[in-house]
Amino acid sequence: MLRLSEIQKEILRIKNEKDVCILAHSYQTHDILEIADFTGDSYQLSVQAANTSQQTVIMCGVRFMAETVKILSPDKTVYLAHQAAGCPMAELLNRQALMEVKKQYPDYTVVCYINTAAELKTVCDVCVTSSSAVDIVRKIENKNILFIPDSNLGDFVAKQVPEKNIKTISGGCPIHFAVTADEVREARRQYPEGLVLVHPECVPEVVELADFIGSTSAIMEFAKKSDKREFIIGTEMSIAQHLQYQCPNKRFHCLSKKLLCPDMKLTTLIDVLNCLNGEGGEEIKLDAEVITAARGCIDKMLELG
Ligand code: 13P
Ligand code: SF4
Repeated sequence: MLRLSEIQKEILRIKNEKDVCILAHSYQTHDILEIADFTGDSYQLSVQAANTSQQTVIMCGVRFMAETVKILSPDKTVYLAHQAAGCPMAELLNRQALMEVKKQYPDYTVVCYINTAAELKTVCDVCVTSSSAVDIVRKIENKNILFIPDSNLGDFVAKQVPEKNIKTISGGCPIHFAVTADEVREARRQYPEGLVLVHPECVPEVVELADFIGSTSAIMEFAKKSDKREFIIGTEMSIAQHLQYQCPNKRFHCLSKKLLCPDMKLTTLIDVLNCLNGEGGEEIKLDAEVITAARGCIDKMLELG
């Protein structure tokens, strides 16, 4: 049986030989974060994607993240390390359905969460991530905003930016949606010293009970810098695990056993190795018109973010 460290060594050898950049979202497992050139939240990965010098990029994450890299660097060869890793939220709404919704809101600026398919981005005005949504929406001139597809993030933004008229449509992340306010109360009872840090993809009743709300990276930064020693983490359970490795003297508890994203957990080191060897993964191919049209809203995000 191969040891993880042996596979990692082989990945690093081939990656350096072929000059490949590996990007990994923070929801990936620890062994994958260890071999990545860059790790981070969706926003940080998209900035890295725009700046990376290598000609080939492998995304360890979900499909919309690999598509974002391709949109920002169309001349690069971009692979999704595991071809089946999608995000159910990104596939909730198709282009046609959004065009119908837009007809009801003709004078609205359409703001899309980055967790959307490339095709949907072609008919949106500005893209946001969980870490940039509040700032970007504040900077948009139009008072009327149609926020898609995450109604929880939209609700969070609407409360932070009350001067805007924000319409959401129902939808969101099934993993974060499943966490309940009762689970927050129960976790506080079990760990009375623990600070509750949650992702804005959680439902408003959970967000209201939290001590801190932020993206995956913002949650990690907050916990690392805090002088408190115990934390209840309300986002995908890998974040509590990564934090535990990074801060062995602190204690991290996952808010709910339901916080496991099966798509984010599909990718293994063997997938990365196979992808590097040309025997796995999926090369992301997008039509030139889709790239040009989808790029508008991502560029706007990078400009305003
Ligand atoms: P962030 O990386 O922006 O925190 O988003 C979390 C997420 O659900 C990514 O799919
Ligand atoms: Fe999509 Fe939710 Fe998984 Fe993130 S955690 S990839 S939003 S399903």
